[in-house]
Amino acid sequence: MHDVQNNRLKQSEAGSGKNAIRLLINDKLVSITDVEPSLNLLSYLRNYLRLNGSKEGCAEGDCGACTVVIGELVNGSLRLKAINSCIQWLSALDGKAVFTVEYLRQADNSLHPAQQAMVESHGSQCGFCTPGFVMSLWQIYNEHTTSGTTVTERQLRYGLSGNLCRCTGYKPIIEAGLNMFDLPTVEFDPTVTIQRLKNIQRPQSFVYECQQHLFQAPKTVEELTQLRESRPNATILAGCTDIGLWVNKQYKAIDDIIYIGQVAELGNITLHDSGLRIGAGVNLTDAYDAIESLYPQLQQMHERFASVPVRNAGTLGGNIVNGSPIGDSMPWLIALGASVVCANSCATRQLPLDTFYLDYMQNALSQDEVLLSIEIPLPVHNQLFRTYKVSKRFDSDISAVCAAFNITLKDNSINDAVVAFGGMAAIPKRAQRCETALIGNQWNQSTIDSAKHALQQDYTPLSDIRASASNRQQVAQNLLQRFFLDMQMTTSSKSLNTTVFENDS
Ligand code: FES
Ligand code: FES
Repeated sequence: MHDVQNNRLKQSEAGSGKNAIRLLINDKLVSITDVEPSLNLLSYLRNYLRLNGSKEGCAEGDCGACTVVIGELVNGSLRLKAINSCIQWLSALDGKAVFTVEYLRQADNSLHPAQQAMVESHGSQCGFCTPGFVMSLWQIYNEHTTSGTTVTERQLRYGLSGNLCRCTGYKPIIEAGLNMFDLPTVEFDPTVTIQRLKNIQRPQSFVYECQQHLFQAPKTVEELTQLRESRPNATILAGCTDIGLWVNKQYKAIDDIIYIGQVAELGNITLHDSGLRIGAGVNLTDAYDAIESLYPQLQQMHERFASVPVRNAGTLGGNIVNGSPIGDSMPWLIALGASVVCANSCATRQLPLDTFYLDYMQNALSQDEVLLSIEIPLPVHNQLFRTYKVSKRFDSDISAVCAAFNITLKDNSINDAVVAFGGMAAIPKRAQRCETALIGNQWNQSTIDSAKHALQQDYTPLSDIRASASNRQQVAQNLLQRFFLDMQMTTSSKSLNTTVFENDS
């Protein structure tokens, strides 16, 4: 490592203490006392440590030029995942390990196979995106060399969904991803990282303060709700994939932060008799994996929701509380009858998600409450369920319209129907006229035609950069038609009982 970097690392290490952020950067312990808690990791790497390999392209989690890999202790093992360093706050990385592209240089100065394959496959031209691609490839390389599995092109495309390149056209990069496994293997040994991470785990809640900016990371729900009660105006931070933009793009000063990522209970996923409970701190990757095991129809939505680094950091709870009218999770959660569990220091309450949204970006959480979990019912007999996303790009894009349909049939009659849309109103919202036109009627084209007509009365969408109002109205009706046709194809070849959870990919 360059001398300047070494000196700066030593200076940072000297500032260790109770109130220091402690993390590993490229396996070196860094203790930080002199930065605002909302300083993002990319700025720290580039401006404080002069680790300039990671680049800033967009500063909002869209381009992947800043991709690094973080390591977390999970049951004593090291879990690696790619994230966007531009929207990760340093304070929330306390107790974690960060690996940047500088870490990949081998002891003899040779390149890691992920880098060498990029060179040999001509996967880099201007090079601006390259460190981000390399770090995503490094994570994939480690995953497959550790498990001994062969990577597929589909897996590579999935793993690189958060990395944009404007020069090479992706084909050489995908080839590099396939070819890196043909080069002499470089194994990643996590032993040192695990030991060093164990040394910096905290038994108690973490409190960090700098320049009158306060960051608190409680460990228990009790601590969290009491903190919330005492600091009702604090910003609740989870994955930072949205709040990170408040600072980067809107230049907001966030001076009082309660971080939920250390509350163990909020990181749990539990399957119980009546459904699946997803803790409010569970990241989107793990949440979708778990829910998809019950509802495999979500596979394509999972792949199309943002990108791997965003899903690795962002949480389902954050997606829900944020309540964007164009968020991808709310329509299908509402359609499935999901509910949210909220708590203050005295009581817990559960309310259906379709009653949670009050107005644009406003929800039913009171000032002293926090979201604890999302409850998702189990699939039921004779259920037809699909969700669809319409956007310009396949992945890493925001919906123009997002739809979800959940229908139960009895003797080809529609027993129950929940239809919900994103992108059609100021909040994620059910299409109640459409539902009324469906319930009690035969499951046939005539009913769908009536429901499409009713659907026009349900929403008054806006025109914006993603779609015009009339386009949204047409797309919404078309998606209902598509749902009917998809279900016809599904049910025509097999009995309904065996096909309702079939994957639509
Ligand atoms: Fe574009 Fe971070 S700089 S994703
Ligand atoms: Fe230029 Fe990817 S090589 S943006």
